[in-house]
Amino acid sequence: SRKIIIDTDPGQDDAVAILLALASPEELDVLGIVAVAGNVGLAQNAINARKVVELSGRTDIPVYAGCSRPMRRQLVTAEHVHGETGLNGPDLPEPTIPLQAQHGVDYIIDTLMNAEPKTITLCTLGPLTNIAMALVKQPAIAERIQEIVMMGGAYFEVGNITPAAEFNIYVDPEAADVVMRCGAPITILSLDVTHMIQSTPARLERIKAMGNKSGEAVHAMLTFSETFDLEKYGWDGAPLHDPTVIAYLLQPKLFEGRHCNVTIETASELTMGMTVADFWHVTGRSYNATWIRTGDADGFYTLLNDRLARLP
Ligand code: BDR
Ligand code: CA
Repeated sequence: SRKIIIDTDPGQDDAVAILLALASPEELDVLGIVAVAGNVGLAQNAINARKVVELSGRTDIPVYAGCSRPMRRQLVTAEHVHGETGLNGPDLPEPTIPLQAQHGVDYIIDTLMNAEPKTITLCTLGPLTNIAMALVKQPAIAERIQEIVMMGGAYFEVGNITPAAEFNIYVDPEAADVVMRCGAPITILSLDVTHMIQSTPARLERIKAMGNKSGEAVHAMLTFSETFDLEKYGWDGAPLHDPTVIAYLLQPKLFEGRHCNVTIETASELTMGMTVADFWHVTGRSYNATWIRTGDADGFYTLLNDRLARLP
């Protein structure tokens, strides 16, 4: 099975992504989970990550805390979307598993340096601070990363935190820039695809009807996030972002995209954090990423239901 590290700021959709990964041990070996500041502050995200791990029953998974603020900027958070805990909705008990003592950035570096090259994939579900800091602290990790599969950015669907930028990239554009230039293979699941993977009431009902604790919690999480998104977009369902990263690893055929150059805006205040994807190859810039453009929503929810049903 494929070895992954999940870097995350849970977040209801992060939580669903973590559950999807932990429910798929045949394909994915989750080595560890690293929290980063994003949707809410670092300490709360690290608590949320442990709550989700405990919900899944996989208390063997170590959880680390990484960076508490972006590389250069003040932290921007998203309580307006995720609630003041970052994970409003379900009633999850306080975690009992410990937070690991090692800093999350050092954990990422050590894990990559001690493994065979190109055997570990980084799944990023939040701002890219931890990954960029690891690349700055130990540049030798770049050529040892098998792939970075990232939820972030937007091109055809423009922005969700500003008209031009998606939240994960906007929070730490300098970090995103470091990552995009690192040379490792990168696959990006942006708003272009996550806006297609909508959690409609019918899909949420099917999740609740599974009758297990995890299904009930996911139903509560996504019902909470919907209240904000449905009003914002006026669609039948709310976008579901981070789980697309895990679904891509499990069933890449659900997605389509192309190899191109992606460059991050770090200068203009108006378009700060914009992911400028040269989707039509109109520049000579070298290709550094696979930009996913479309996803099969029915296929995605079939996969999600199938896997969540395996959890407690
Ligand atoms: C991203 O921002 C966060 O609020 C979500 O968890 C997701 O990672 C979507 O823009
Ligand atoms: Ca997230």
